[in-house]
Amino acid sequence: MTRTEAYLQYHDRSLAEPEAFWAEQAGRLEWHRRWDSVLDREARPIPRWFAGGQINACHNCVDRHVEAGHGGEAALLYESPVTGVSSVVTYAELQDRVARLGGAMRAMGVEKGDRVLVYMPNSPQAVIAMLACARIGAVHSVVFGGFAARELASRIDDAAPRVVLAASCGIEGTKVLPYQPILREALDIAAHRPDACVFWQRDQHRADLGPGEHDWDEVIAAAEPAECVPVAATDPLYILYTSGTTGAPKGIVRDTGGHLVTLLWSMAGIYDCPPGEAFWAASDVGWVVGHSYICYAPLLNRNPSVVFEGKPVGTPDAGTFWRIIVKHRVRSFFTAPTAMRAIKQVDPQGEFARDADISSLRHVYLAGERTDPATLEWTSDLLGVPVIDHWWQTETGSAITANPAGIELMPIKPGSSTLPMPGWDLACLDEAGDPVPAGETGAIVARLPLPPGFTPGLWGAPERFREAYFERFPGCYLTGDSGFVDEDGYLHVMARIDDVINVAGHRLSSSAMEEVLVAHPAVAECAVIGMADELKGQVPVGFVVLKSGSDMPEDALAAELIAAVRAAIGPVAAFKRVHVLSRLPKTRSGKILRKTIREIADGEEPKVPPTIEDAAVLGEIEEIFA
Ligand code: COA
Ligand code: AMP
Repeated sequence: MTRTEAYLQYHDRSLAEPEAFWAEQAGRLEWHRRWDSVLDREARPIPRWFAGGQINACHNCVDRHVEAGHGGEAALLYESPVTGVSSVVTYAELQDRVARLGGAMRAMGVEKGDRVLVYMPNSPQAVIAMLACARIGAVHSVVFGGFAARELASRIDDAAPRVVLAASCGIEGTKVLPYQPILREALDIAAHRPDACVFWQRDQHRADLGPGEHDWDEVIAAAEPAECVPVAATDPLYILYTSGTTGAPKGIVRDTGGHLVTLLWSMAGIYDCPPGEAFWAASDVGWVVGHSYICYAPLLNRNPSVVFEGKPVGTPDAGTFWRIIVKHRVRSFFTAPTAMRAIKQVDPQGEFARDADISSLRHVYLAGERTDPATLEWTSDLLGVPVIDHWWQTETGSAITANPAGIELMPIKPGSSTLPMPGWDLACLDEAGDPVPAGETGAIVARLPLPPGFTPGLWGAPERFREAYFERFPGCYLTGDSGFVDEDGYLHVMARIDDVINVAGHRLSSSAMEEVLVAHPAVAECAVIGMADELKGQVPVGFVVLKSGSDMPEDALAAELIAAVRAAIGPVAAFKRVHVLSRLPKTRSGKILRKTIREIADGEEPKVPPTIEDAAVLGEIEEIFA
């Protein structure tokens, strides 16, 4: 199995002549002002793309298509099995709604460069909110609905939004979750005060509006439509918070020009989805996949984008995905491996897919975590199309490695996320920074310059950006993942090298959970690890050591700790298990052996032999997981 020539030459050119390669792609967009330089190699800590250029994301995603006569075509295909709503928004309607919301925000004082926080479920309104910000040059920061008030508060304080756009509620399966109390609690915790909060009122639960709170429909009805404002290609389009190695979330900044250029390339190069064909990313606008592939990329490429408010199973059954693919003749479908495992659990024989005419479907794309070979094979047997695992990060905004189906479909190797995409020059390094031989695991890095679309920084934290990503191996971006390149050049991403854990495709910080546990009065110290889970990939498990003299019963303590994590971080953490230990296993220098605990929890033989002091506690852990 080898890589074939066409793609190899294509990728080589992206590394050898990055300026020419990406300028060609940039030429497919409409710019208000052409860039002065494609790549400013002198910029630090990383080179910058399209400096001097001026562009507007909303113009390219919406107005450009309306002006070209496509206003009557579908832009958003809303499928909400949780509310029973199915509706279509055309490009012309999208332009009108986005322009009015932009105008409403402007009337509230939002100016170019101001931040707007979006706390909404997956819905056309959330996409409209993002595009309205882009239209007037404001910087959106979408917060996923599954986070609790404290996490929301930390994002409000960091981004300092002038306005918050929210929904009155989210709907999780059969549960209606009012958002207003969470937002109000977050604003009580936060030091920053936005000027206004606007609520999209949903029939399932209406928010009772107080001072400073406005009704979405009313402000839009009163608004003057806003025009698209040109912004610098290097200006931020959005901030998206993600988990890092400490409890404080990282505000990943996405710049405008380079991001649009990469996304437009990817719709053809990776997703093989010509304009007019339906595209579906069954993710959430609260995650990077939702930003890129529910909102910006399909609209840039004039694809109808499915906006799905539901779950792979239970809304109402494990056939939801297939029915929507049939209904909209979806060509390219993107979801998380955990979603496919959820369907497989409920419908192992694939009964729901059997009679579905999914002949429109060309490829299925999976990301968010490594696709285990069994899930990949089950999915491709079920659907009869190539299933492509591709590797992503919030930092990168699009795939680092993927199968370039639109250029040339490479042979699929289950367990591998295939090959580097244009502009990605990858290596697996040992501790000393030397590349490891093929087949050996190392820290995965990418050599500078990174392709357009890669984050130019962390919001308000330039030092953290440099230290977290560029200090360990000079000249390289430290991805935080480890893995190996096989003899055919295929990348296999195997694990994180830091304290980030991945629960149902959601990136979470074990340190953030530890901060909550250790704040409990009975807890002296603690560790949280990500244990392998058949459905969610990983689930967090906590271990605590009690303060001497504490006689709190383990069950009562566990219940309090589980409730505390849920209240502080949110239900999305899925923190449901905690154990009391006599001590924590540690290295001689006092570092907690989280990896060893994880190995025991996963039923593996620990790789580091225990010290005499650790032997007893490792025995305790073995007993828990026996
Ligand atoms: N708003 C409020 N609460 C939310 C939420 C949201 N947007 N999203 C999740 N939650 C809550 C859930 O209700 C659940 O709460 P509970 O503990 O009260 O049951 C908790 O957070 C965990 O949710 P979830 O991770 O969705 O687990 P689940 O058991 O409900 O469903 C899967 C399991 C596999 C079906 C689901 O995780 C899934 O579809 N994952 C795909 C993830 C994905 O697309 N990731 C994007 C990467 S591409
Ligand atoms: P996020 O920033 O939330 O998109 O999470 C990024 C992290 O998810 C990566 O650093 C990986 O650890 C993991 N991840 C995402 N996609 C894949 C994949 N296809 N294979 C392996 N790991 C993945």
